[in-house]
Amino acid sequence: MAGAVTINPMNSSEIADAIDLIARAMNQAEADWAKKAFNYYFACEHKGIDSTRNYYVALSNNKLCGLVGLHQFRWGPPENVWLSWFAVHPDYQRKGIGAQMINYIQVQAEKQGYNKLLVETYGSEEFSVARSFYAKQGFTPTGKIERYIDDKVAMLVYGKRL
Ligand SMILES: CC(C)(COP(=O)(O)OP(=O)(O)OC[C@H]1O[C@@H](n2cnc3c(N)ncnc32)[C@H](O)[C@@H]1OP(=O)(O)O)[C@@H](O)C(=O)NCCC(=O)NCCS
Repeated sequence: MAGAVTINPMNSSEIADAIDLIARAMNQAEADWAKKAFNYYFACEHKGIDSTRNYYVALSNNKLCGLVGLHQFRWGPPENVWLSWFAVHPDYQRKGIGAQMINYIQVQAEKQGYNKLLVETYGSEEFSVARSFYAKQGFTPTGKIERYIDDKVAMLVYGKRL
């Protein structure tokens, strides 16, 4: 187990570290996309607009080592919420931090009135760790769209009832 990490709502001063984490844990294309998502979220917050999303960071000795978001799609059923931008910095992986973040986010989602936590992941090899991880955390495969990315890789939805 890692030493205790603290998990807090993300603030705008953490955007650069969060993007760097996504680049390292995933890739630069995802980091570029995450930057747009964070900028949108904090711009809405600044203007008092509810973006129906929230982001949280895990800190170990003040170092940003994990990131996770909750997205509620306005057009979707109000009881469902989606995990987003979930990653642990490579130097901190396999120490139980991801599991701690899932426990934390489940509590947040329940407090916010949701009863189903869903996550979009993929059938390719690079997501095999994520699939093992979600299974270990009690998520079950609930949906699949074949040939979702580049007309090849399937999109998988894992879900957990809260
Ligand atoms: C998925 C991810 C967030 C897991 O974070 P983590 O802090 O390393 O996970 P934990 O240490 O809490 O692992 C919990 C369990 O998940 C499984 N798991 C985690 N990493 C694994 C690995 N590399 N290989 C196989 N199983 C793994 C194990 O069952 C593990 O339990 P154990 O260590 O007791 O065997 C992390 O690997 C990551 O950031 N990956 C890249 C980004 C990503 O794919 N995000 C998900 C997008 S959908």
